[in-house]
Amino acid sequence: CGIVGYVGAKSALEVVLEGLRRLEYRGYDSAGVAVVTAGPDTAHGLIIAKKAGKIANLDKELAARPLPPSTTGIGHTRWATHGPPNDRNAHPHSNNAGRVAVVHNGIIENFALLRAELEARGNELSSDTDTEVVAHLLGELLPEADGDLAEAMRRVCRRLEGAFTLVAVHADAPDVVVGARRNSPLVVGVGEGENFLASDVSAFITHTRDAIELGQDQVVELRREGVTVTNFDGTPAETTPFHVDWDISAAEKGGYDYFMLKEIAEQPKAIADTLLGRFTPEGRLHLDEMRLSDDDLREVDKIIIIACGTSFHVGLIAKYAIEHWTRIPCEVELASEFRYRDPIVDRSTMVIAISQSGETMDTLMALRHAREQKAKVLAICNTNGSTIPRESDAVLYTYAGPEIAVASTKAFLTQIVATYVIALYLAQVRGIKYGDEITAILADLEKTPAAVAKVLESVEPVRQLARELKDAKSVLFIGRHVGYPVALEGALKLKELAYMHAEGFAAGELKHGPIALIEEGLPVFVVVPPKGRDVLHDKMVSNIQEIRARGARTIVLVEEGDHSVDPYADHVIRLPKVPTLLQPLVATVPLQVFSCEMATAKGHDVDQPRNLAKSVTVE
Ligand code: G6P
Repeated sequence: CGIVGYVGAKSALEVVLEGLRRLEYRGYDSAGVAVVTAGPDTAHGLIIAKKAGKIANLDKELAARPLPPSTTGIGHTRWATHGPPNDRNAHPHSNNAGRVAVVHNGIIENFALLRAELEARGNELSSDTDTEVVAHLLGELLPEADGDLAEAMRRVCRRLEGAFTLVAVHADAPDVVVGARRNSPLVVGVGEGENFLASDVSAFITHTRDAIELGQDQVVELRREGVTVTNFDGTPAETTPFHVDWDISAAEKGGYDYFMLKEIAEQPKAIADTLLGRFTPEGRLHLDEMRLSDDDLREVDKIIIIACGTSFHVGLIAKYAIEHWTRIPCEVELASEFRYRDPIVDRSTMVIAISQSGETMDTLMALRHAREQKAKVLAICNTNGSTIPRESDAVLYTYAGPEIAVASTKAFLTQIVATYVIALYLAQVRGIKYGDEITAILADLEKTPAAVAKVLESVEPVRQLARELKDAKSVLFIGRHVGYPVALEGALKLKELAYMHAEGFAAGELKHGPIALIEEGLPVFVVVPPKGRDVLHDKMVSNIQEIRARGARTIVLVEEGDHSVDPYADHVIRLPKVPTLLQPLVATVPLQVFSCEMATAKGHDVDQPRNLAKSVTVE
């Protein structure tokens, strides 16, 4: 979910709605705002407007029933957990007196118990959400806290279990917004005579680039003139200020129809930025930001990568590179499975947590488990000030810039680059296999932005193909070696964006089952390994013939100059020549374009596919 809070001199409604639009990628099942009114013309009051569906529905509601002017407000855009996405379950929630409004991201695990207690005391709860209990509890505890909303919030938080970001306003405190955070994201934007709260900085970046990271179990009180942060027990809390180093143009569409198209186009620059300053002209890596010592890195005897979704596919690719270059055994695990299987982790294990947002709850919980077992945790992350890097022993940032489209593209490519940088650095520090191959691969990595740009110049036929295949029932993707996770990613993109049945398979595994799916006309994308890898390449050529013989419509991604597959290909997509391990950086791009075009052809919302959210802060 996305959350915004504002107090200042501007129209709170405008600031909050603008913030919500920038956060809509975090959830779009419903949206709502609450403003506190005060002043000579209006009595102290609290007004809530909320609507199921996207923010556009809320806009219509506000146009039909405008709110009075106000300079204090909060807002929410929801990804539903408790209760269906209808008007009633939309946030903000209020208590029976209608004097307090609360928005929430996360899950309050003991809400059933709290709800029963509240009902026993005569409160009437009107929604199915876990959030509403907080509004009622705040209402009950405010008198005990002498009307101090921050104190009431601390008392409430001490009773809550689970993960939450909460932001609240009260009718009797027209210049105060209060926020609280445990395990879910919340940042403060510090302005002049105005202050902001939001799930991430993009919500207030047009107003200020000065921000404060909130730590675990902290409550923040926002007034026009300042910000006070305390721990849940009321003691003053230490905070970390930071400056946002990108500007608003990075979070806007810049002439593209969709964020996803813009983000696909930005990939060459994103890769170049992620490599920038990380190696010397002599071809050695230097990672200033690596907070783990060389001795720590030499001790590592096992690597476990944890991640979700697209970031998990990066892990699958990285395994090939890490084991090849470092000879350290590497496992890749879905973050949501990791801690539940009693994994073997100790102080010589390095856990690499990959997360674009830095907030994915499954990944955060997995890394906490790893740290409890004394593993060294290294994060690969795209979001400064987020939780996962803060809780890790070291972090390597990707410099993709803000990624807004829900389906990940530029983050994926830069995460691959970051895992390779780590693998090569480990190889360098440990002196293993360090030599010509690694110097050469660094030089090749430097050339990938140009290679990706070249792919982007030649994707028009891929768009055309997507339109032709619009009515396909299903699409398969096959690959070998690092082409296998590329196949998985191609299928995931198509599921996410086009809501089509799509599967990725290891090409060698086809004959053990999935080949039964092949029927006349079924589109199958095939990622062919570069010719240098003779054995793999030739096996793949045989696989293509096998599926073609059974009626598949083959769409073959193959490096330029390799015509060995032409006789068995219905469509050929040429890729620039790169070493095998770098092939995912070029081969994924046409698959991204294909899914994006397919979604457009089917009339779906490319940037905000149904049921999904970009940053999933529940387990
Ligand atoms: C969500 C998004 C996916 C993303 C995954 C992991 O499910 O919809 O696109 O890959 O989270 O996100 P992260 O921010 O941890 O990389």
